[in-house]
Amino acid sequence: MAKKHDIAIIGAGNLGIAIAKGIAGAKLAKPKNMYLTRRHLEKLADLKKQKFNVLANNIEAVQNAEYVFLCVQPKQLPDVLKEINPVLDPEKHVLISTITGVEIPTIEQHLETTMPIIRAMPNTATAIQESMTCMCTKNASEDQVKEVKTFFEALGETLVIDENLMKAATVLAASGIAFFLRYIRAATQGGIQLGFHAEEAQKIAMQTARGAASLLVEGENHPETEIDKVTTPQGCTIAGLNEMEHQGLSSAVIKGLMASYEKINNITQ
Ligand SMILES: NC(=O)c1ccc[n+]([C@@H]2O[C@H](COP(=O)([O-])OP(=O)(O)OC[C@H]3O[C@@H](n4cnc5c(N)ncnc54)[C@H](OP(=O)(O)O)[C@@H]3O)[C@@H](O)[C@H]2O)c1
Repeated sequence: MAKKHDIAIIGAGNLGIAIAKGIAGAKLAKPKNMYLTRRHLEKLADLKKQKFNVLANNIEAVQNAEYVFLCVQPKQLPDVLKEINPVLDPEKHVLISTITGVEIPTIEQHLETTMPIIRAMPNTATAIQESMTCMCTKNASEDQVKEVKTFFEALGETLVIDENLMKAATVLAASGIAFFLRYIRAATQGGIQLGFHAEEAQKIAMQTARGAASLLVEGENHPETEIDKVTTPQGCTIAGLNEMEHQGLSSAVIKGLMASYEKINNITQ
């Protein structure tokens, strides 16, 4: 029997739909207890068939809910908050913002009342329930944080952090998807040069990346422990690895993360 949660998802686009499906799939709420809003309702026809409530009225969605997910684009946020402000009740609602780069104090500037706010930074792997979602909180009770953590655990892994680390988390986890994918593309290109067809090279690179990550996730080892297992003295792995390091692999990754972090600080200041 699913726990009863009434949930509003304001802005049911890519992320909002992934959250709705993840929560319903994990049976943390029933579709009939979830209120999904957007302006173009025809794009939610499939979800309506699955018994989710789909509506264009944000106020009605908030009035029906306890947990209110904000999943609109950053520029749409001020208008949405202005609209739902009159019906937000700190005794009833928990506000969960997934909006990239918008800090809790900025959200609070748009609110007429002090209320529980949780800011969550998922990544695009929410679509396949493999997100790394970092969260920070203000005015939320332990139970409320636990509950919201459970929602995001239906979409992958979670970590509660201080808000001052949210930009770093955005770089490492959200931009990080692109960084890891670029490695896979480079490995694919190398594989083609070594004689594989493109699809074969990509399949080998993808599964090898998955295997490498799983060795750490499941074995809880340091990367270097697993690397030591592959590097035979004077062998081909250490030759390749050292050449990559001579060319600046680790340095390039760290510098790339720093450049990304510098940029995010400039964009959101
Ligand atoms: N996608 C991800 O994996 C991901 C990861 C981390 C963070 N985020 C953040 O999550 C937010 C949403 O991202 P997304 O990729 O899901 O974008 P998206 O697909 O563009 O979704 C935004 C949705 O908001 C709806 N919307 C716009 N104005 C609205 C209003 N006034 N009332 C109700 N709904 C409204 C839009 O639909 P209509 O035009 O039909 O209204 C659209 O479906 C962004 O702020 C992004 O930074 C996304």
